[in-house]
Amino acid sequence: MHRATRITGLLSVATAVLAVACGSGAKKDAALSFNEAAWAPPLEKDIPNDSLGASIRRGLSLVRFTPESLPQFATSALRCTSCHQNDGLKKSAAPLTGAQARFPKYMPRSGAVIALADRVNFCFTRSLAGNAIPVGSREMVDILAYLAFISRDVPVGAHIAGTDGLIAMKDTLVGDAARGEQLFTAKLCITCHGPEGKGNGPIPALWGPMSYSIGASMAREERAASFIWHNMPQTAPGTLQPQEAFDLSAFINSHPRPDAPGKEGDWPVGGAPTDVPYNTFGHPAHRPPASLVTRGNPAGALVPNPASIMRRAGQK
Ligand code: HEC
Ligand code: HEC
Repeated sequence: MHRATRITGLLSVATAVLAVACGSGAKKDAALSFNEAAWAPPLEKDIPNDSLGASIRRGLSLVRFTPESLPQFATSALRCTSCHQNDGLKKSAAPLTGAQARFPKYMPRSGAVIALADRVNFCFTRSLAGNAIPVGSREMVDILAYLAFISRDVPVGAHIAGTDGLIAMKDTLVGDAARGEQLFTAKLCITCHGPEGKGNGPIPALWGPMSYSIGASMAREERAASFIWHNMPQTAPGTLQPQEAFDLSAFINSHPRPDAPGKEGDWPVGGAPTDVPYNTFGHPAHRPPASLVTRGNPAGALVPNPASIMRRAGQK
């Protein structure tokens, strides 16, 4: 024991000397020592059997059974895993692995640096068309504990390839909603998601009042085309042509869906991607849906940008 400690001690002295000798190069090496290709997220069976493990487990249940667990907040027919497939681990489905190491992050859509909890609430309010959950709640901490767990060993600030949301489509094609309607039947989407796109139980709604809001990334033509092309039909992903994915996306996103209060303030300094389906600063709506469903609790659908707690003298 004693001897081992001494050897380790000597080794770290040697490493320290080496680091000094190498100067700034050593810093670079430390970042490079994260072997991305060899990294894999821990799995459910790796969750520890302690208090932290209990929180991680609750967080995992919340992302799997969101409307069942949080009916006042997750008011649509979607759960986190409707899009973040395989408990957030699937590479082509906006993976959540490593998310803990990427935040706080500047979000061009908000025009602000936001924390991971706010990013989670953006998915509650926009992707789930629900209400933001209190940042100090046990449920939020549990979700964050799960996200931290599936980010294990990823260095803060590290960029894992393929974790920038949905994978960008190589070519930006123009979808044809009429062709998409035919494909919806021909490619059997209709057998699971139903003729009215309502879904059923674990099969999520694609449009209508119980689906994602217009302010979700999935409401953008290229973003949904990417999800569809990589991941659908669920039992035979990879069988569609890119053009077919764009057609299906245009068809799905032509239907009414919940509004996203505050969306006009998105991309406050401009620069909205071309497929954003509503007007923002300097950006005209791209193929907006036929109509929008008014939100029952518009205040709950907002995730305000972080604001300072500092007050100028004399200010209330
Ligand atoms: C309708 C689909 C959809 C649903 C449902 C959804 N998300 Fe997302 N989420 C996305 C997409 C798409 C992105 C990536 C956005 C982009 O393309 O940049 C994302 C991004 C995120 C991110 C940021 C990841 C990163 O590293 O930047 C987090 C965290 C997140 N979602 C958590 C959740 C949680 C928790 C839930 C459930 C409460 C949820 N999401 C439900 C589609 C969805
Ligand atoms: C075998 C049943 C099945 C078929 C067929 C199927 N889906 Fe899905 N779809 C699902 C399930 C289940 C999910 C939720 C993610 C998961 O659990 O894999 C989903 C998720 C989605 C989502 C993201 C969540 C949402 O609500 O928007 C889109 C978009 C989608 N499917 C479109 C399609 C399209 C387009 C087709 C046809 C090419 C299709 N699906 C075929 C079962 C299916």
